Amino acid sequence: MGIITSYFGRELERDDDPDPKTGLTSRDISVLKTTWKRITERGGTLEIGIAIFTNLFEKHPEYQQLFPFKNLRREELKTSNKFRAHCISVMYALTCIVENVSEPLILEQLLIKQSTSHVLRNVPDQAYWDIKTVILSIVASSMNPSEVFVWEKFLKFAFRIMVATAEETRNN
Ligand code: HEM
Repeated sequence: MGIITSYFGRELERDDDPDPKTGLTSRDISVLKTTWKRITERGGTLEIGIAIFTNLFEKHPEYQQLFPFKNLRREELKTSNKFRAHCISVMYALTCIVENVSEPLILEQLLIKQSTSHVLRNVPDQAYWDIKTVILSIVASSMNPSEVFVWEKFLKFAFRIMVATAEETRNN
């Protein structure tokens, strides 16, 4: 992150200097962390996870076929402990990712690890872009346009790494 030295010799953080790997500025990082905290506290971590996956399965029912709860109907899903456990695991993984947005090398490894663990589950690349759309629409409902802009930038970066890793893993 860029540091500028003021007239008085104090160091101030500059918010217009994007990290070369992630493209995120210090301001972006702060927006991501504060908005994610706000969203999960207001909406409830589990509930947000459930909203993401019910939304994804509604728009793309074929993705539900990849899961052990593939035969459950929408109303059954919401009360399935298997499904709820999955939703909360994904949410904790997302929280871990957001908490490490200021550590580009750790962040990259977290994304790579998630992606490789999904290759054996036959998750198609398109599913990442589809879940990105769903996540963005859910977080956007409690954010202003400049916060949405930061999330769009961050999710594009994150899913580009996940998709590139998946392609590489499949080809090796
Ligand atoms: C935001 C992106 C995603 C994250 C952070 C994420 C995270 C996780 C985590 C933490 C688990 C459980 C731990 C594990 O077994 O590795 C998991 C399992 C799984 N994920 Fe994802 N996931 C993401 C996107 C997707 C997408 C797009 C699909 C397919 C549409 C998918 C399909 C699966 C499947 C099939 C399992 C195994 C479920 C089970 O056996 O109960 N994931 N995911």
